[in-house]
Formats: sequence, structure tokens, C-alpha cells
Amino acid sequence: MKALIFDLDGVLVFTDKFHYEAWKKTADKLGVYFDEVINNRLRGVSRAGSLEIILERYDGELSATEKDALMEEKNNTYLRLLDAMTPADVSNEVRSTLNELRQRGFALAIGSSSKNAGFILQKVQLSGAFDAVSDGNNITRSKPDPEVFLKAASLLGKAPHDCAVVEDAEAGIDAAKAGGMTAVGIGDAAGYAKADYTIRSFRELLEIELFSGYC
Ligand code: G6P
Ligand code: MG
Repeated sequence: MKALIFDLDGVLVFTDKFHYEAWKKTADKLGVYFDEVINNRLRGVSRAGSLEIILERYDGELSATEKDALMEEKNNTYLRLLDAMTPADVSNEVRSTLNELRQRGFALAIGSSSKNAGFILQKVQLSGAFDAVSDGNNITRSKPDPEVFLKAASLLGKAPHDCAVVEDAEAGIDAAKAGGMTAVGIGDAAGYAKADYTIRSFRELLEIELFSGYC
């Protein structure tokens, strides 16, 4: 039995707009320019890494304590926005595709950089759809490091070459390849040259010959 490891934000749920709104508040407070293009660079990047990207345009130095306070404030705003999520925030297409993949015998896991993955899964009632959750709480290195996906594979008891990762971030595709896994790009990562497969819609996962050439 093979496994599929899903990134969460931008693949199963669309939380980018909430990250954007919350980080915009931080940037405004600092007097730093921030837009959707910069927000796109935060895909798959840890909270601390995201702050560093925002601070590229900040003229000054912040202490570790000040950075921690900014991250905490951002996360509180983000959590308030996430709280409005409901099961309707996951499309029927995503739910039925996950069900079909399970019926085909795939083990399913989450591989997300977010420390809020458990909360999001709970809000959209998707926790029960996965055999394992590897997230920002159990890793020390962010994507493009493969740690989060290798942890997911190990939680599932699978070898990396038996796992395919579904990602919307180029850093996530790089992480999957660095971990010796098959990489499927969707959304922003569709068309990324390093992806083994590109899908334009989630249900296309059912159509591609996953793992061909890998087993
Ligand atoms: C995901 C998102 C990133 C976010 C990261 C950490 O990978 O794509 O934009 O920065 O999670 O999220 P967190 O919820 O822990 O702040
Ligand atoms: Mg993502």
C-alpha cells in the first residue's frame, strides 16, 4: 500500500487570505510595504521565516523578544479569522477525492508547516480523513527541508519512495524531492519544473498514474 501526503494550506483549504490579512496588520504596524505578491512567497514557509521575509523591507533591527511578540499577535489575528471556518470551507471535490483515494487503498497523511493544522482540520471536520498528521509542531526545519514529509512517512510506517506529496508551494515540491518522494504540484506549484506531476484540479489525482516509475 502506498501513501499520499497532503500539504494543507493552499491544497485542501484556502487560508492564504487569512494569512494575508493577519500579516498585513503586522506590516502596517511596522510601516512596511506588503502585498499579495509578497504573501505568495510565504507559502510553505514557517511563521518565523514568514516574518523574516516581511522584515526584508523593514529599516531597523528587532530583538528576538519583539519578533516573538509580533508572531504571537499575528497568530492571534489569524486564529480569530480561522475560527470562522466551517466544513463548507472544504469542497465536495476534495472530500470525495480523499474518500476515493482511501477506497483505492492509499494511506493518507497531512504534511504541513503550520502549527495550526490540527485546529484547521478540526474546524473543517477533516481530522478523521487522515491516518497521520505531521505539522509545524513536530519539526525543527521548514520546507524545503524534507523533515515534515519524512515524519509523515514514518508516522504511516512507509518508505519515502512509497509516498507522493501533493503541494501548492515550490518549497514543498523541493522538500518532497529532497525526501526521495514523488511530487505532485497543484495551484501555485502547478507547472513547477521539479514536480513529477502537475494537476489543475484536485480530482485529477484520481487520473494520474501515481508512482509509475517508482515501484
Ligand atoms: C503553511 C502556510 C504558510 C505558513 C505556515 C506556518 O505552510 O502555507 O504560509 O506561514 O503554514 O503557519 P502557522 O499557522 O504555523 O503560522
Ligand atoms: Mg501550501
